Formats: sequence, structure tokens, C-alpha cells
Amino acid sequence: MPGDGSAVASILIVGEGPGFNEDQLGLPFVGRSGKLLDELLATVPLSREDVFITNVVKCRPPNNRDPLPDEVAACRPYLEFQMQLLNPKVIVTLGRHSLLRFYPEGKISNDHGKILQWGDRILLPLYHPAAGLRNPAIKRDLQRDVLMLPEALRESLRRTNTVSLIPNAGELQIQQANRTSKLSERSTVNRTLSDDVVDQISEPIIGKDIFENKQGENQLGMF
Ligand code: URA
Repeated sequence: MPGDGSAVASILIVGEGPGFNEDQLGLPFVGRSGKLLDELLATVPLSREDVFITNVVKCRPPNNRDPLPDEVAACRPYLEFQMQLLNPKVIVTLGRHSLLRFYPEGKISNDHGKILQWGDRILLPLYHPAAGLRNPAIKRDLQRDVLMLPEALRESLRRTNTVSLIPNAGELQIQQANRTSKLSERSTVNRTLSDDVVDQISEPIIGKDIFENKQGENQLGMF
């Protein structure tokens, strides 16, 4: 299931992997999760025709299990090529596996709804819609987090030409800026990615700015 949507979309939505029906039909998110995804997009307001939707892995893992690391690795060049072709400004990750594909040190319960800088693109991690169907609190988070999409697009426009890549002998620096209520109130913290993480990353990662859109942390479980 390669994906579906606009070939000129600014927004790329990346789920985890196709389920049975998606695999059969060759289309992403055709079931109940897809209906919730459509509803969430409509609040922005966007439709599937405005975005491109794909998955971290392109085939359904047997028995719908989580994708294994070697399966994610096998599909990595495919998704990378899709990103080169589409050149999206904003990548929306759905669920934990999609977040980790882009940000191996991420934590969905901590990072959902944050605007992250990823190379010269913006990353907006969301919970997986299937998790929202199972848990009303997560559904509310999804409804709130998706409203960050317009701001994510604006942020990508602001940041065009201002990204700094800092490859430095196996170390990449992450700048983390915590947004309180205004951009001017950012405070920055430097962190360093370990060498093995850097080795895994083939795309031009990373100057990462994190803008928190809300006060406090949500301690819901991982999805
Ligand atoms: N879940 C996903 O992560 N992707 C799909 O395409 C369908 C369900």
C-alpha cells in the first residue's frame, strides 16, 4: 500500500502500516480509524485530497502486529524517496511507530501535539486514530493536537531558509525551544544525539525546535 492523496501536498501524513482492508484495497486508512482521521482533518479544515497519506511500512505485518525494526528499515528508503518526491513542508506522524521512525528518542505521550523541527521540515506527532477510538481522553488530545496543523504550516514558512544543520564528527545538536505563550518567550536547551542514533538517520536531520502548545504534560499510555 504505497499511499494516496495529492502529489503536491504540503502535508504528509504517516501512519504505521496498512491493515487487512488497506492492503486489499491499496488505500490508506479505509476503516474506522480512517473515518476518525477524516473527521479530525475536517476540523482544520482539510480533506484527504489536500494531503498525502502513507505508512512507515508498506505491507500489512502478519496478524496486524506492530512493525518490526527490520521491516521499518526495509521500507525506509521507500518512504525517504516519497518524501523527496513530495517535498512536504509538514510531516504528521500518527502513533508511536511513526514518531520513532523520524525521531528515535521521541515519546508519543510527551511529544504529541508539539511542533518539532526535523531537518528543513516540520514534524507534528499525533496519537494514532486507532488509539483515539479506544480511549476517549486520547481522542480529545487528537482533536486538540490536530488544531496545531495550521500553526505547523505557518512555522514551516517562517523557518524556510533559517534551518541550521550542525553535523559535527558524529554529533548533531538539537536545539529545543519551549514555547510558553509566544515565540519571543522561548527558552533553549541543547541536547546531543548519540552516535548510533545519528548512524540510523539517513535524512538530513536535524535542527529540532520544540514548541509546546499547552501547559503541562499528558501522562497517557504509549500508542
Ligand atoms: N493504520 C495505519 O497505521 N495505517 C493505515 O493505513 C491504516 C490503519
